[in-house]
Amino acid sequence: MAKMEVKTSLLDNMIGVGDMVLLEPLNEETFINNLKKRFDHNEIYTYIGNVVISVNPYRPLPIYSPEKVEDYRNRNFYELSPHIFALSDEAYRSLRDQDKDQCILITGESGAGKTEASKLVMSYVAAVCGKGAEVNQVKEQLLQSNPVLEAFGNAKTVRNDNSSRFGKYMDIEFDFKGDPLGGVISNYLLEKSRVVKQPRGERNFHVFYQLLSGASEELLNKLTLERDFSRYNYLSLDSAKVNGVDDAANFRTVRNAMQIVGFMDHEAESVLEVVAAVLKLGNIEFKPESRVNGLDESKIKDKNELKEICELTRIDQSVLERAFSFRTVEAKQEKVSTTLNVAQAYYARDALAKNLYSRLFSWLVNRINESIKAQTKVRKKVMGVLDIYGFEIFEDNSFEQFIINYCNEKLQQIFIELTLKEEQEEYVREGIEWTHIDYFNNAIICDLIENNTNGILAMLDEECLRPGTVTDETFLEKLNQVCATHQHFESRMSKSSRFLNDTSLPHSCFRIQHYAGKVLYQVEGFVDKNNDLLYRDLSQAMWKAGHSLIKSLFPEGNPAKINLKRPPTAGSQFKASVATLMKNLQTKNPNYIRCIKPNDKKAAHIFSEALVCHQIRYLGLLESVRVRRAGYAFRQAYEPCLERYKMLCKQTWPHWKGPARAGVEVLFNELEIPMEEYSFGRSKIFIRNPRTLFKLEDLRKQRLEDLATLIQKIYRGWKCRTHFLLMRKSQIVIAAWYRRYAQQKRYQQIKSSTLVIQSYIRGWKARKILRELKHQKRCEEAATTIAAYWHGTQARRELKRLKEEARRKHAVAVIWAYWLGLKVRREYRKFFRANAGKKIYEFTLQRIVQKYFLEMKNKMPSLSPIDKNWPPRPYLFLDSTHKELKRIFHLWRCKKYRDQFTDQQKLIYEEKLEASELFKDKKALYPSSVGQPFQGAYLEINKNPKYKKLKDAIEEKIIIAEVVNKINRANGKSTSRIFLLTNNNLLLADQKSGQIKSEVPLVDVTKVSMSSQNDGFFAVHLKEGSEAASKGDFLFSSDHLIEMATKLYRTTLSQTKQKLNIEISDEFLVQFRQDKVCVKFIQGNQKNGRVPTCKRKNNRLLEVAVP
Ligand SMILES: Nc1ncnc2c1ncn2[C@@H]1O[C@H](COP(=O)(O)OP(=O)(O)OP(=O)(O)O)[C@@H](O)[C@H]1O
Ligand SMILES: [Mg+2]
Repeated sequence: MAKMEVKTSLLDNMIGVGDMVLLEPLNEETFINNLKKRFDHNEIYTYIGNVVISVNPYRPLPIYSPEKVEDYRNRNFYELSPHIFALSDEAYRSLRDQDKDQCILITGESGAGKTEASKLVMSYVAAVCGKGAEVNQVKEQLLQSNPVLEAFGNAKTVRNDNSSRFGKYMDIEFDFKGDPLGGVISNYLLEKSRVVKQPRGERNFHVFYQLLSGASEELLNKLTLERDFSRYNYLSLDSAKVNGVDDAANFRTVRNAMQIVGFMDHEAESVLEVVAAVLKLGNIEFKPESRVNGLDESKIKDKNELKEICELTRIDQSVLERAFSFRTVEAKQEKVSTTLNVAQAYYARDALAKNLYSRLFSWLVNRINESIKAQTKVRKKVMGVLDIYGFEIFEDNSFEQFIINYCNEKLQQIFIELTLKEEQEEYVREGIEWTHIDYFNNAIICDLIENNTNGILAMLDEECLRPGTVTDETFLEKLNQVCATHQHFESRMSKSSRFLNDTSLPHSCFRIQHYAGKVLYQVEGFVDKNNDLLYRDLSQAMWKAGHSLIKSLFPEGNPAKINLKRPPTAGSQFKASVATLMKNLQTKNPNYIRCIKPNDKKAAHIFSEALVCHQIRYLGLLESVRVRRAGYAFRQAYEPCLERYKMLCKQTWPHWKGPARAGVEVLFNELEIPMEEYSFGRSKIFIRNPRTLFKLEDLRKQRLEDLATLIQKIYRGWKCRTHFLLMRKSQIVIAAWYRRYAQQKRYQQIKSSTLVIQSYIRGWKARKILRELKHQKRCEEAATTIAAYWHGTQARRELKRLKEEARRKHAVAVIWAYWLGLKVRREYRKFFRANAGKKIYEFTLQRIVQKYFLEMKNKMPSLSPIDKNWPPRPYLFLDSTHKELKRIFHLWRCKKYRDQFTDQQKLIYEEKLEASELFKDKKALYPSSVGQPFQGAYLEINKNPKYKKLKDAIEEKIIIAEVVNKINRANGKSTSRIFLLTNNNLLLADQKSGQIKSEVPLVDVTKVSMSSQNDGFFAVHLKEGSEAASKGDFLFSSDHLIEMATKLYRTTLSQTKQKLNIEISDEFLVQFRQDKVCVKFIQGNQKNGRVPTCKRKNNRLLEVAVP
């Protein structure tokens, strides 16, 4: 099956005509109108055959997107609307597939968009050619060479904010697959005069502004620069800032691009140092100084700047200073040195700055070439892109315009040559007869300029080399002599000038009638610019620089290689490089992009017809159309032609089976197109006049409309039928579904009614059965109940009978037993005595008691008086006996225990017994005293020699000798005293000395008082009025209170036969001298731990705190 493919053509949806070759009628007005119409519709590209005219839109258009790239990729040139991408694609594909080297020549005046076009071509090629890490790096380097060159070679001019001030030709090299390998850039004639002076409203080269705006403070300091444009004479100030241009950002872009291209850091730095040196050179100023010989000599005004330059370039300051003051001329063996006046010094300075900068630029180009050079030696395919200044016609045209226009003449020539050549070749290829084409050949103008014997450039060189005074005027005179007869040369002085009286031709001017128009050149500066003189002293000074880059820029400064021959002039250099370029271009297949600037205002949407008309003229565009149309205006391969027009003939529509050429022949015959209007080539049909093509197009359009109607008709019929069929099918489906639904519903109804009836019948049946079952159940239940009652009655009857029987049997047994007893008693009464019962009773009792005692004997507890064990009683009637026995046993074992005691022990126990009677359950201290043996004489007065005196003083027996605390009556504090109790007296003595302090006869002791608590305080009350009572009662405290009180009680009883009153109370009165003081015991003072404390509160109260 044939693949469905949508074939489009340039002829579809055309605005105006897409190819100027098709313009009818062809004249300047229609040409401009067509361009304008297309421009107004955003169609900035128009073809002249395979030449692309590009009108600068001055605004971004959405026609360069990656999608557009894809659209144009691998499409035929005439398939889509005109575009620079179509041309790029065509060039790239014929390079890749047909192995033809290509060149793309971009021309146009300043600001027409040449540089942008060249970048678009490069970016398109980069987008469609091979990919891969290595290839991408090459692409990136090629693309990034642009920003570097633009920074150094472009400047803002009145015509263009980014005007290229040099011509550029770049060869991009590809391998057999079409992958880029590298490139070579050639540069032409940098406008170096711009370095030292810029026309009004224009700027110096971008790099100066970028450096000052974008460099870091550190870098600026290093370069001894200031960020202020106004500090530098070489920078014009009136237009230092360009709208929409960020110099600082661009500086970063340039540095980045340099890095990508492969500049080492030190190289980039050296470059910036040279730029800085150029900038600073402009600030060197000179002043006149009179010399003895009356001549003026120049001197440097301020040496500071010079010093900084010398530091930057590492040149000996004196060497440079001298180079600015002297000029040495060497001829053969002679060397003559002359001083420079101020004007010459300025000239020298500017020449140095210009040379330094232009050489730096050439060095940059070479350095970039080194980086982007193809790395392999395999055969390369080449695509050259030429972005060169277009024809320039200004008010003041000087040497530069002359050179530029010469270059354009050459390009036009090559264009004519190549176009005609190709046309001719195509005719031969296609086997079509060649007819002569009438066109203007500009070779004659080229000859006027470049002829080696009498060409203008040769004359200029001759003048420059001639000894004697040479001025621009002498040069003009020479021209007047040599070129006067040339039909394209005019000057006021020229003898054959037809404009002798024409005042429009001023003095010191000559006019050349270029192919693109007449240009008037000012002869002033021609000689100088051609000479391009740099004093040898300066180049030598530069060569001596320690800065390796600067040194390498001035190889002629090396004294060892001194060359007395003059360097080639600027004109001859340019001529040579143009010749090389032309040679290069001639070997390649040319592709043209002609750029047109629509207005002078750099503004979008403005199309100035006068300006465009001017450009059309000097670009020779009408000429181009004519050349292109010389034979046949339109040609097309047979296949696409047949494809496009086959609907115009019944035989070819819709399918033509056979060769395409035969189809086209049938078609053209059928359409009755006159034979002279077309020719059949080998692969193409050639149409002589655009009219024929338009007729075909009109017919096609008409036919397409008819076809459209036909298609519409068939389509509508098809659509209706399909719709009808669909409706019918749907109706059947719907009916089927509906019937099914209705039947379903009916069935459901019947089913549910059946179910209802069924359920009623089943219910009725079930109820009937239930009734029967219930009746049956009731009958069964009644029978069971009756049976149960019946069985109950029978059982009860039986029970009653059995009970009756048992009672009778029992009664019989009882009666029988009584009867038997009566019989036995009657029988045995005569055998028993009357007191036998009592005797048996006593005997039995005796046996029991006997058994009790015998058992007790074995169960006796221990002999310890404190043993509480006693065996349990065996019979209740022995209770009192058992208790009595226990008591007697206890008394007995106590007696046994006591019998063991000695007399002394007996006395102690008596005392303990006495104490128990006195204090048990009365004083809390008592229980703790039970375990303590009463010792009485704790202090061994007899033995201790310390108490000898005391012992001697006492004759009686000592019952108690112990240290007690005597409570001070006044404050409650205690002092230790020896407490002695004898048979008759109570004595108190000093503890240390043993001296007797008080002596109280026991008869004077009336009472002893103490608390009920756990303390050792006690008061000894004395008889009122007795001698001992003069100070009052005593209050003591002792650890042996119980023993002391007991012994005091017993001694008093035995001596006085009176019981000593012992009062146990927590509050008692004592007599201290005249006062009755209450001693009060309170509980709970924990201050002094376990020790009771005593305190006299007032004269009525003494408080003892017991813990
Ligand atoms: N295709 C385009 N689309 C949008 N703007 C464009 C296009 N071509 C050119 N321009 C605008 O026009 C300006 C000038 O273009 P360009 O620098 O290419 O001119 P030129 O022909 O190289 O001039 P010169 O001879 O001075 O170098 C560009 O800076 C850009 O703003
Ligand atoms: Mg440019």
